[in-house]
Amino acid sequence: MGYEGLRFPEGCLFLVTGAAGFIGSNLCEALLRMGCRVRALDDLSTGKQENIDLFLNDPNYTFIKGDIKDPETCMQACEGVDYVLNQAAWGSVPRSLEMPQFYCANNIMGTLNMLEAARQNGVKKFVYASSSSVYGDEPNLPKKEGREGNLLSPYALTKQCNEEWAKQYTRNYGLPTIGLRYFNVFGRRQDPNGAYAAVIPKFLKQLLAGERPTINGDGTQSRDFTYIENVIEANLKACLAPPEADGQAFNVAYGGREYLNDIYFGLTSALGVDIPPIYGPARKGDIKHSNADISKARELLGYDPDWSFARGIEQAIAWYRENL
Ligand SMILES: NC(=O)c1ccc[n+]([C@@H]2O[C@H](COP(=O)([O-])OP(=O)(O)OC[C@H]3O[C@@H](n4cnc5c(N)ncnc54)[C@H](O)[C@@H]3O)[C@@H](O)[C@H]2O)c1
Repeated sequence: MGYEGLRFPEGCLFLVTGAAGFIGSNLCEALLRMGCRVRALDDLSTGKQENIDLFLNDPNYTFIKGDIKDPETCMQACEGVDYVLNQAAWGSVPRSLEMPQFYCANNIMGTLNMLEAARQNGVKKFVYASSSSVYGDEPNLPKKEGREGNLLSPYALTKQCNEEWAKQYTRNYGLPTIGLRYFNVFGRRQDPNGAYAAVIPKFLKQLLAGERPTINGDGTQSRDFTYIENVIEANLKACLAPPEADGQAFNVAYGGREYLNDIYFGLTSALGVDIPPIYGPARKGDIKHSNADISKARELLGYDPDWSFARGIEQAIAWYRENL
């Protein structure tokens, strides 16, 4: 269970893109704790310098401020690298509906540049962030790899393109790639600010400030909220996965199902506040329910998540109480 027992060869070098973001900075932290060398890359477009500053004193950590839209930056960043954990992208379904061309350039071309740089530098495994949004309007639950519907947003399209390009790089150029379809990740350092913030940090910040959060829709929607520790486990196990897993994408979730209203009232009760939500219109591009079948990742990656939603949310609440 988990990733504590995993071992990488002495001195091996990881490149984490999107390292100033939520998931990237948590990956860096876990790798450094395991004694690995980490090269962090980020253009700080949505990430934070403070997520870099946390590690700058560690001799195993170096930071490159750079943009994956630039092929030369990607080439330099991949030099001598054993494993790439490619997290750099712009998130948010609604924002992608407002600026589709930027999403194409940033999320698709950026990752293509990284794939090419990884191939030319002989990287051992290219693990990249995909998303549950690739399931689009597929109504059947749980979501299962190979059973995808029509895409509902430009963001989802960028992730599907990443998967197709990665498949090409495995098939035609022999680069071992693994895509991880994250389902609603939450935990420490997820940004609570801005119009495009994820619900859990946003609600926590507002409730801690005594403000009234807005739930988009009637709150009966459900998601497979996934604690960050499970995502770290999936990334590390993907690096060590056998060649049969290459060129494929895997659901990364806990396999549970949480309703937004339950989460909301769970948070108010944990914080000891009595603040009713405002119910707003449902968001365009959103699906009603999403939860994952994680059996493929269990079988091929040995993924065995041990952080339930209940356990994870307790940790997240404690972190936000201390750090907001
Ligand atoms: N958080 C989730 O629930 C979730 C769910 C599904 C998929 N994902 C994917 O996981 C990855 C990480 O997400 P996150 O939640 O940590 O987001 P985040 O916004 O916190 O981190 C993304 C990081 O990528 C950097 N970045 C963006 N474009 C870049 C570029 N062109 N060059 C260099 N750096 C760039 C940003 O500055 C930021 O630091 C993303 O690919 C996202 O699409 C996240």
